[in-house]
Amino acid sequence: MKTDIVILAAGKGTRMKSALPKVMHPLAGRPLVKHVVDTASRLALSEQPDIHVVIGHGAETVESYFAGTDVNLVYQLEQLGTGHAVAQALPVMSKDGITLVLYGDVPLTATNSLESLLEKVTPTSMGLLTAIPASSKGYGRIVRDEAGRVTAIVEEKDATDAQRNIKEINTGILAIESRHLHDWLPTLSNSNAQGEYYLTDVIAMAVQAGLTVETVNPNQIEETLGVNNRLQLAELERFYQRQQADVLMTNGASLADPARIDVRGTVTTGQDCDIDINAVFEGTVTLGNNVSIGPNCVFKNCTIGDGTRIEANTVIEDAVIGTSCNVGPFARVRPGTVLEHGAKLGNFVEIKKAHIGKGSKVNHLTYVGDTVMGEGVNIGAGTITCNYDGANKYVTTIHDNVFVGSNSTLVAPVTLNEGAFVGAGSVITKDIPANKLTIGRAKQVTIDSWKRPVKDHK
Ligand code: UD1
Ligand code: CA
Repeated sequence: MKTDIVILAAGKGTRMKSALPKVMHPLAGRPLVKHVVDTASRLALSEQPDIHVVIGHGAETVESYFAGTDVNLVYQLEQLGTGHAVAQALPVMSKDGITLVLYGDVPLTATNSLESLLEKVTPTSMGLLTAIPASSKGYGRIVRDEAGRVTAIVEEKDATDAQRNIKEINTGILAIESRHLHDWLPTLSNSNAQGEYYLTDVIAMAVQAGLTVETVNPNQIEETLGVNNRLQLAELERFYQRQQADVLMTNGASLADPARIDVRGTVTTGQDCDIDINAVFEGTVTLGNNVSIGPNCVFKNCTIGDGTRIEANTVIEDAVIGTSCNVGPFARVRPGTVLEHGAKLGNFVEIKKAHIGKGSKVNHLTYVGDTVMGEGVNIGAGTITCNYDGANKYVTTIHDNVFVGSNSTLVAPVTLNEGAFVGAGSVITKDIPANKLTIGRAKQVTIDSWKRPVKDHK
């Protein structure tokens, strides 16, 4: 059966005190509403659902974010209430399927909670996600009869004192046959304390029509928490990060402190990886077996081979690091870098778009860019590949077993042939032959007639 998933995201989010629409604020590097869309698309459904996001405040920002995706955007020009918001999607919703309503600012609902909720939808019943939070303040309360059957939701502002004492609250998330929404939403009234068209009034209508309202509870309360301000955003970020840390540890990685790791993408770890504090992972990162990571490292879209050690304060982006390598401390590995087995990058080394062959070493204070380097090469401290002439970039080619003395400048395009030896302090502008010592620096002279200057006394 067709499922329409309607994500409400038209509200302003005044308490964020931000120029950015609330649902575009990032959690773990992804906008809140993207988490909800991703959850919706991961649901186990017999048919691909249609995902509709209802937007209003800051619509252009949300619109450009989802441009070119399957997400269908629906405009709610005036925010007249949650019922009115869902009603804006009716023209594009199927009449004979199921509708699931989600919220763009409730980012962490688990797929299994939503799948359980969808199972409650039959021709004679609907599903409602409810919870019992520490405080029910601000939420709609779930009203039940003596037999425990749900009869209505009453908003806090419309509630009697007795109803305010009800602990069970409406998370807002519900699932129901779409035909009912087509029938009922156009008939909603806004004569209530807030003058809004409440989606929650659908519950009483369902009961009136003889449907049972089946409730489902989330496994963890955080699944249903919304973000209204930056404090709540930070709390959910920590909750999410702790979940990611737990997955890594469950899969066999050791974390120095599960409260000090940030996964803003996907990380896969092999066996016995050791991750020290303050690691940040973005995009897709894959660690092999026995990878060890020092404190304060940042990884973005990279692969680290078995047995490799990344030392403290290293940043690696769009790179492939081979097995048994050593990188850092304080290394910056930029896009397009490949390190073969056993290669070493030391401190204050920057590598960009370079292929570093097996066992080659770039150990200190060096820039290597646009370079193809063979095996067993040793690059001395302070070496710079001059890859850019201000207009174009050129390649430096360094063959196997080359030794470059400290503080050398390799002006590309240039080739250092196999086994070549470059004297320290050389400026290399022409290709150099194999297995010979090349020195490109001024000859050292001593001036015998020189006298130390003395101060003038006037
Ligand atoms: C709503 C529920 C309440 C529930 C609570 C859970 C109603 C009437 N009340 O209350 O029972 O306990 O959520 O958090 O549904 N939105 C729109 N367009 C609108 C109005 C709202 O897109 O015209 C969006 C908002 O951006 C927000 C969500 O719907 O993401 C909820 O709206 P909000 O005004 O926060 O509803 P509550 O009053 O909190
Ligand atoms: Ca709310």
